[in-house]
Formats: sequence, C-alpha cells, structure tokens
Amino acid sequence: MTIYISRDAAAKACGAEELVAAVRAEAAKRGQDVTIIRNGSRGMVWLEPLLEVATPAGRTGFGMVGADDVPSLFDANFGDHPKAVGLVEEIPFFKNQTRLTFARCGRTDPLSMLEYEAEGGLKGLRRALQLTGAEIVKEVTDSGLRGRGGAGFPTGIKWKTVHEAQADQKYIVCNADEGDSATFADRMIMEGDPFVLIEGMAIAGVAVGATKGYVYIRSEYPDAIKVMDDALKIARATGLLGRTLLGSDRAFDMEVRVGAGAYVCGEETSLLNSLEGKRGIVRAKPPLPALQGFMGKPTVVNNVISLATIPVIMDRGAAFYRDFGLGRSRGTIPLQIAGNVKYGGLYETAFGLTLGEIVNDIGGGTFSGRPVKAVQVGGPLGAYFPTSLFDTPFGYEEFAGKDGLIGHAGLTIFDDRADMLKMARFAMEFCAIESCGKCTPCRIGAVRGVETVDRIAAGDPSAMPILKDLCHTMKLGSLCALGGFTPYPVMSAVTHFPDDFARSKEAAE
Ligand SMILES: Cc1cc2nc3c(=O)[nH]c(=O)nc-3n(C[C@H](O)[C@H](O)[C@H](O)COP(=O)(O)O)c2cc1C
Ligand code: SF4
Repeated sequence: MTIYISRDAAAKACGAEELVAAVRAEAAKRGQDVTIIRNGSRGMVWLEPLLEVATPAGRTGFGMVGADDVPSLFDANFGDHPKAVGLVEEIPFFKNQTRLTFARCGRTDPLSMLEYEAEGGLKGLRRALQLTGAEIVKEVTDSGLRGRGGAGFPTGIKWKTVHEAQADQKYIVCNADEGDSATFADRMIMEGDPFVLIEGMAIAGVAVGATKGYVYIRSEYPDAIKVMDDALKIARATGLLGRTLLGSDRAFDMEVRVGAGAYVCGEETSLLNSLEGKRGIVRAKPPLPALQGFMGKPTVVNNVISLATIPVIMDRGAAFYRDFGLGRSRGTIPLQIAGNVKYGGLYETAFGLTLGEIVNDIGGGTFSGRPVKAVQVGGPLGAYFPTSLFDTPFGYEEFAGKDGLIGHAGLTIFDDRADMLKMARFAMEFCAIESCGKCTPCRIGAVRGVETVDRIAAGDPSAMPILKDLCHTMKLGSLCALGGFTPYPVMSAVTHFPDDFARSKEAAE
C-alpha cells in the first residue's frame, strides 16, 4: 500500500509527523507493507493532516486525521471511514483550480527528479536551451507575466534590461522572504516542488546571461531551507545545475541564503544589502537593481512564484499562458486564503474571480460562521475591503482602481467582531516597528500615526484630519512601499468603516 502524507510545514503544524509515526507503528504491528511518500501540500490546509492512499481510481483521501484515527483506518482497510473525503482530485476546492505553477505540488515527491521529469519538469529549460537569450526574454514578455512579489512589474521587461546590460558577471536573485501576512505560496512551492524554482532560475540565467543565483529565504522557513538545500544537491548531480546545463554549453549554479528576519528585507534593494552582508536598509533608486544590483552587477530580482512560473511558460508557450486572466493581469495567481475562513489554503486560478467569489464560494465564508466584515488583500500594506466591494475582480488594475492592491495575493478575512480602528493602529505600529529608518515620512510618520489613531480612539475630533494629512505625506514622500503603502490599510479602514472610528469617540465621551 502506498500512502501520501505531506511534508509541508502547514501539514506538520497540524500533526503530519505524528501521523506518519502512527502509520509506521501500526503497519509494523500488523505486519503490513506500507510505503509512505512525503509529498508537498495540495494547498487544502483546512484538511491537514491529509492522508492519501493510492488506488486504481486515483488517490483517495482522509482529512484532518489524527494519530488516534490510525488503528480504525487500518481496520477499515482505508475504505469506509468517518474521515474519508473521497478522491482527492475530485474535491471541488482542488478540482476547480487551474494549476499551472503548482501543477505538481502535492502530487509528487518533492525530491524525486525522476517524478519531476515524468510530470513535465525540465521541458521548459530544454526548450530555453534551444533559444537565444533575446528569444527567451521575448517569450516571457509575450506571456504577460507580471512580478508576483507585489509590485506587478512585467517580468519580461526586467529581464530585457538585464539581458541588454554589459557586464562580466550578472546574477539571478530569488526573493523568498515572503513576509506578507496570509501568504505561503513561496514556501509551499519550495517545500512541494523545489525543482520548478531551480529550473525557473536556470532559465532566467540562460536568458539574461547570468551564471550565478541566490535564493534569499526567510529564516522562519526551516523546512523550505532544508528542502531547497537538498534539491540543489540533486539538481547539481543530475545536470539541472552546473557548468553544462542538461549537457549544453550554458552554465548556471545557485545557493540558498537565509534571511535576516526583517519585513523590509523583502524589499528588493534592502534584500540585496542583506545578501551582501550589510544591514537590510533600502537603497535609493536609480540605479535599478537590473543595472547595479547584487555586488553592483546587473541583477534580476524576482519573487519565487514569478520564477517558478517560467518553466510552464517556456514549455507551453507564451500564448497558452496569456490566454488565462483578465485585462493586463495575465495567467494564473495562487490565492492564499487565510484568517477567519472556513476553507483556508492555496487556490491557483486565472485572474478575474471576484473577491466575493473567492471569500464566499471558495473560502466558504468565515470559520466562526459570523458575517464577513473586511478582507485585507495584499498583506500588511494592503487595503481592507468591505463586502460592498466584493464585486471587484481579482486583478492588478481592478484592485488599484478601488484604492487597493493584490500584492502577493494573500487574503486575510475578518468577521463582524473586528475593530477597524485597532486594525488601522496596527498598520501604523507595524510600519513603525519594521521601518528601516532611512526616510523621515516612514520613520517618524508611522510613530506619529500610532499616536494620532490613539487620539481618535480617545475622542479627539482634531486628530482625524491630522491622520489623513499624515497618510498623504507618507504615501507621497516615502522612499519605498513600506512607508508609502501603509496609508492603504489605514485610509481604507477610515473610509469603509467610519462607525468604528466614531464609536471610539462615543465610548470616550
Ligand atoms: C517592504 C517591502 C517588502 C517586500 N517583501 C517582499 C517579499 O517578501 N517577497 C517578494 O517577492 N517581494 C517583496 N517585495 C517586493 C520586492 O521589492 C520586489 O518588487 C520583488 O521582489 C520583485 O520581484 P517580482 O517582480 O517577481 O515580483 C517587498 C517590497 C516592499 C516595499
Ligand atoms: S519607507 Fe520606511 S522602510 Fe522604506 S526606505 Fe523609507 S524608512 Fe525605510
């Protein structure tokens, strides 16, 4: 019997290790031959630990399985059981997705190069190796892929700048700092399908003429760091990395670097400083990292998901990828649904679903069963959307048009008990704590922001115009998006939930 239990950190947090030990012990007790494969996550975090059993019809699953369920699962011969969820790939949350970037994640053994190749891996790099750098860059540009780290900058245009730059050395830097609240797509793909990221980075290297790459992974991701390290060794041994990529005359190698533990180290120039061993402080632009990045050399800095999407684009072609999506948001996006929600997890789909469809139809509404009050989209710098904006389609321009952002596509859901004044205060406090200190609007403004929200809470009527003015200054005067975007959560809370600010005043009176 072959059993799959995820090795993903979210599954582990829910008890996957204990489950593996219990299955091993029970199989030994019964003298039954059981192979346990530690796959990546399917993204259905609400079902973890999810135990899957291979059957001729496909993998059948058992959800939220505890170690104490194991004897009864063996008794039932992994058939009829209260924890049975049927064929895993028929579960609507999984079945209705369009899995391009995450095609293998949760299905294969993350460290099996054989499975990776059997399931379509390496095809993208093989094709890239037949093309010139300019042709690869054109393919990526034509695909419409935009950076998934938050800013949504067209990946092909960034690559073109690095490709055309003249230098003795160029670099590919993968941003795996993933500091946004509610986000875990980078971690999930690194733990569940690390070769796809390595392949994407190798293609980037071939495209722009870079022979060296770094993955900067946040220190809070020990599992991802371990899987990536192991995967790099296998990639070198099998020719996916090295002096002769898949037997060609192109070279590319890469290393894992562990992050310094600050949110701002996810900002690309701060990350580059950190990678160089300096304090993680933001650099003024220009010069662009594409021209003077790591060690002053032309550098592609891309998010994990941007790079991990390159292999499918090179394999299936730009036209195939750009066919998904809406407006200028092409392809698919891994939505990360979290907070107070019934079905939390990762859902890869084409851009264009409305926020309401994501929260209610896919997420199933709140976990508490109470009405949804707000959804923060795009991490700690994203706006709080009320239910009256649930008809907003998920896309870069569509969210920007409603004074919001999609960021790294993390969604945090709040029920009607959330106090939006407290959330506005939290946004300012977060900025004050995480500010790198380089520019005044952010360094001083965020501290004043906390004080001003406290004044509003205490019923001071003169404080609201000051808060609005402060947000205006931070938005226009900050050097990077940490100070520049903190006004989004603050002002969206003020605009969409005025009662929470008025109530505080009443309470004070
Ligand atoms: C404060 C701050 C934190 C950021 N954190 C991340 C992060 O954790 N991961 C990420 O990919 N991009 C992050 N970014 C965006 C990066 O600066 C950069 O735009 C991105 O890595 C470029 O890759 P992409 O074009 O593939 O998105 C952050 C930006 C700011 C201002
Ligand atoms: S906005 Fe904040 S984090 Fe960004 S450079 Fe200025 S002080 Fe640093």
